[in-house]
Amino acid sequence: ETENPLRPRTFSEYIGQDKVKENLKIYIEAAKSRKESLDHVLLYGPPGLGKTTLAGIVANELGVDLRITSGPAVEKPGDLAALLTNLSPGDVLFIDEVHRLPRTVEEILYPAMEDFALDIITGKGQMAASYHLPLPKFTLVGATTRAGQLSAPLRDRFGVVLRLELYNPRELGLIVQRSAKILNCEIDADAALELASRSRGTPRIVNRLLKRVRDFAEVMSGGVITLNTAQVALDRMEIDELGLDQSDRNMLTAIIKNYGGGPVGLETLAAATGEEAVTLLDVNEPYLMQIGFLTRTPRGRCVTPAACAHLGLPVPSRLRDDT
Ligand code: ADE
Repeated sequence: ETENPLRPRTFSEYIGQDKVKENLKIYIEAAKSRKESLDHVLLYGPPGLGKTTLAGIVANELGVDLRITSGPAVEKPGDLAALLTNLSPGDVLFIDEVHRLPRTVEEILYPAMEDFALDIITGKGQMAASYHLPLPKFTLVGATTRAGQLSAPLRDRFGVVLRLELYNPRELGLIVQRSAKILNCEIDADAALELASRSRGTPRIVNRLLKRVRDFAEVMSGGVITLNTAQVALDRMEIDELGLDQSDRNMLTAIIKNYGGGPVGLETLAAATGEEAVTLLDVNEPYLMQIGFLTRTPRGRCVTPAACAHLGLPVPSRLRDDT
């Protein structure tokens, strides 16, 4: 596996998520001093906030190996059995998109998590046989974009449940400066803050924008990322001052122009914008809600007057407070 050089390897390199980090450090230290495996950990929150990175750090700080898979990749109980029986004691198994595990796989995961054993039934009728196979103790780190997507029995088997939050611009500024140093790329402080404030609270986005802005800087202005280069590059990528991209603006514009500002249901909105409903839900909405551009009501999504102002559109009459 070729590793991403921007990915922090230790808690000391990891910027932000302070509450998650400080609590995890305690749980890890306690497990190590008792010479036990760490309890299973569920990480949830929007994509790109560092769930895989944290799983790697947990394994590293525990001094064990990390195995990585994802819910959709584990198709059959035998696939999970192969993963689990190949672990060494204390290892971390990371399952991304853990809510997408097939039901049949989830069912053999329960005793594996709880009793560190596999109960597998093979064959049918007279050929049926059941096996009870002890496993090495391990730590499952599961990741999902929404904890509510997980079945209750699976969620209940995680002893540690942690919610990752969007990063603030100060934290993203530190991350992009660290990344620039690793990439051997010079970036001015005000340019770093510009990238940070246009990255929707997401390290994966700030690092992606850094690489693209570096391309512009190398071709257009001798390699140094100045504020002006950053602004020109971001404008050309159609990322606005708040970090909204075309899909965010399409979503807000559709609510305003087609549905009088809302409320409108998620599926209707997905059809109107040509985006997947889950993408709107997991990718677009968290940031739009964080900056106060979108609200969720029982009857659907509504934009706010601030969103209309940002897009330069009149506030629909339904949204106007005329008391
Ligand atoms: N790169 C991506 N996410 C990071 C984080 N949280 N801290 C430091 N570097 C990062």
